Amino acid sequence: MFIGKDINIAAELLQKGNLVGIPTETVYGLAGNAFDPVAISKIFQIKKRPSFDPLIVHVGDHEEVKYLAAYIPNELETIMNHYMPGPLTIIVKKRHLIPDIVTAGSPYVGIRIPKHDVTLELLRKIDFPLAAPSANPFGYISPTTAQHVADQLGSKISYILDGGACEVGLESTIIGVNNNGSLQVLRKGGLTLEHIEELTGKKLTINDHSSSNPQAPGMLSSHYAPRVPLYLCNLREKIGSVDPERTGVISFSDRFPSISPNHFVTLSESGDFGEAARNLFSGMRHLDNCDIDLILAELVPNVNLGLAINDRLRRAATH
Ligand code: TXA
Ligand code: MG
Repeated sequence: MFIGKDINIAAELLQKGNLVGIPTETVYGLAGNAFDPVAISKIFQIKKRPSFDPLIVHVGDHEEVKYLAAYIPNELETIMNHYMPGPLTIIVKKRHLIPDIVTAGSPYVGIRIPKHDVTLELLRKIDFPLAAPSANPFGYISPTTAQHVADQLGSKISYILDGGACEVGLESTIIGVNNNGSLQVLRKGGLTLEHIEELTGKKLTINDHSSSNPQAPGMLSSHYAPRVPLYLCNLREKIGSVDPERTGVISFSDRFPSISPNHFVTLSESGDFGEAARNLFSGMRHLDNCDIDLILAELVPNVNLGLAINDRLRRAATH
């Protein structure tokens, strides 16, 4: 494995059926040729991902989205026209040219256009779309730097394309259409629901929880989780009763001087949601690598990107 910035190397490896770590504005992906079932099977193998969990297909422009989709409902097309490229995935009826292994047998496919110059250039150089889940072992925290990918999957992939730290830091928002034609949110993510509702003028239905046979494992109540147990609590109440040397803390904007600074993550001192989202996964990862017994975290205000941040914190928490 090596980390580099050479888009041609990445393109060549992908053309030969290999997997490459790719940067996006949300999180890093583990990418392979979406038209090549053998490459796709390697993705499932390396991530130890259950075969019922479909992959998102990444393309470079709107034309390609239309080429892969059998049909795009008007409302989804409006959202696409406004927010793609961006932290958004739409679920649409697929055309047969997308192998079933990509969608785990579903007639629907998730498609997105990442807003990242490096990966958009890579997509222009190759003549196939890229299937890419987040580049982490199944169930673990998603990577937001090339080094995060190397730390966990480095021995299993030949190249990681370095595009810097992810600007959004949370996975894409996933939007689909349910049977009665209304839009539903399958995963809260980097595009806020307020933005989508403002555009469509309609309230979104949220359908992002499932305890069995989930449509999306990101719906499972335990996901995105560190190994050190993480507990959600009111920090002001609990902070006095823990061993300050053995406890990690994730706060939204407060500081707690009793906790060792190396074990302390403030998501955003100014209370900025974008900054908090960018810092969440790297903060969890940092604490997971510290010699501590537990992590205490608090929920952030439940508006704007706070919805997606709280969703990830809840799924990271020990139950
Ligand atoms: O921001 C992102 O979306 C990142 C970057 C790399 O693009 N990708 C990502 O992929 O988060 P992954 O595989 O970690 O999560 C994708 C989620 C899964 O929970 C999957 O079940 C759901 O999207 N999904 C994909 N295709 C679907 C489909 N056809 N129907 C329903 N859910 C789908
Ligand atoms: Mg993932």
